[in-house]
Amino acid sequence: MSSVTKALLPAAGLGTRFLPATKASPKEMLPIVDKPMIQYAVEEAESCGINEFIVITGRHKRTLEDHFDTVYELEEDLKQKGKEKLLEEINRLSHLNFAYIRQGRPLGLGHAILRARPFVKDEPFAVLLSDDIIDPDENLLERMIGLYEEFRSPIVALEEVPAEEIHRYGVIAGAEERPDLYRFTDLVEKPDPEEAPSNLAIIGRYILTPELFDILEEMEPGKGGEYQLTDALRELLKVRPVYGVVFRGKRYDAGDKFGFLKATVDLALRSSTVSEKFREYLVNVAARLNRN
Ligand code: G1P
Repeated sequence: MSSVTKALLPAAGLGTRFLPATKASPKEMLPIVDKPMIQYAVEEAESCGINEFIVITGRHKRTLEDHFDTVYELEEDLKQKGKEKLLEEINRLSHLNFAYIRQGRPLGLGHAILRARPFVKDEPFAVLLSDDIIDPDENLLERMIGLYEEFRSPIVALEEVPAEEIHRYGVIAGAEERPDLYRFTDLVEKPDPEEAPSNLAIIGRYILTPELFDILEEMEPGKGGEYQLTDALRELLKVRPVYGVVFRGKRYDAGDKFGFLKATVDLALRSSTVSEKFREYLVNVAARLNRN
């Protein structure tokens, strides 16, 4: 059994980049092809043996709870109509356990994670930011859990990003211990490009250890007046090593409109139900654009 069985899914953000779509419904429920954004993160974690999910939510997020619940009327209806495949699809994650807690105030990622302390207790845990969609064919989280088992230290996912995007991320300084594995020496949350210590940005996958909660309890607000996970990890460096693994596969920043559209197109091209028709359509669109 995997040593990491719990995952936190911070989902309390207001989703302002997707207004008006997110006025009354959660950003995490925006569908990419036929699944809400958050389900991609849940399936990714589930494929690594994680079976307990702690979702940190806010107001207007109740549909998240409904989505991962059993809908027996729908099950009955699908059964009666002989729609076995759909039935299987809606029940695929029914063996997982979900707990929901409210963040209360939007005080940052560090604050959201601290709210989960009573559920995580004394175990290592994964954090998945569902805005970041990792190519479902990649095994990033599995690799991270493997590294955690080897080092028994926090493992953070990194990506090389261009200078003009660096201000959107936590950025690390570190020593490369093996190809694509860095031991951190410093971290900065959303630096100005000229102050960034490297081009290695933190992306939304972390394997963390429970002593981080003690640090979060004591922390002061950082960038943007929020309690930053990046700052807590910098504190953690004083007592234990923290590692980062560089991800070179495909990631979509679906918290951004353009990234969301790219994820939609690429994942639709792989969908068993629409890929063929969609490919044909795209070829036509490309021909039309080339003519103009
Ligand atoms: C958060 C973290 C940041 C990290 C990013 C990855 O920022 O604070 O360190 O690089 O997620 O997506 P956010 O995107 O929530 O502003």
